[in-house]
Amino acid sequence: MHSSRADSRTGSQLPRSSAATFLQLPGGARVVSHPELTTALESEMVRSCGAHLVVVRRDDELPGWPTIVLNRDHTQSHWGWLKRMHVLPEAQGAGIGSAMLDAAVDICRSVGLSQLYLTTDGQSGPVDFYGNKGFVEVGRMPRNTLAADGSLHDEVYMVREFENAQA
Ligand SMILES: CC(C)(COP(=O)(O)OP(=O)(O)OC[C@H]1O[C@@H](n2cnc3c(N)ncnc32)[C@H](O)[C@@H]1OP(=O)(O)O)[C@@H](O)C(=O)NCCC(=O)NCCS
Repeated sequence: MHSSRADSRTGSQLPRSSAATFLQLPGGARVVSHPELTTALESEMVRSCGAHLVVVRRDDELPGWPTIVLNRDHTQSHWGWLKRMHVLPEAQGAGIGSAMLDAAVDICRSVGLSQLYLTTDGQSGPVDFYGNKGFVEVGRMPRNTLAADGSLHDEVYMVREFENAQA
């Protein structure tokens, strides 16, 4: 079943490809693709997937929203992934990236993580940004990502270890 829906944040109609679809399974489970993103659903997803959000607001804009994704398995519960670390181009160079990273690191320390991992483009600069913030390269996937100029860039794995971690 398909139905279009309105985006409550903008009032605009989302394209039909974003409409909710349902699949009813035996036993009562229901698979919903493209569900309406209500505040309650977002809160539940963040809670149950074990993630911490950092949100930057500037007036009505949302220039950055990194996430720390935690591992469910107890063998890897001592570290997290930093995902979606990105500042909108027009807001870059104003200290937002540093502030977001500092906030993410504070969260990691406060919940007792001992490592924070991330991946980033190996050729276009952020490696130095993270290097200056205590992250070190621990591996790379060669020719992993297609860049705007048509070349293939390495994807770099970086980690920051926390000295005073409890885990
Ligand atoms: C990398 C990024 C997150 C930095 O955020 P930002 O808000 O622009 O950074 P800040 O303004 O806090 O800059 C802090 C310092 O890092 C430096 N810096 C910023 N971007 C840099 C980069 N790409 N490479 C090297 N240094 C960088 C700044 O010059 C500044 O140095 P200073 O303290 O000596 O003045 C942001 O530029 C970005 O989103 N870039 C595009 C997407 C991206 O590469 N994301 C990372 C993928 S994981």
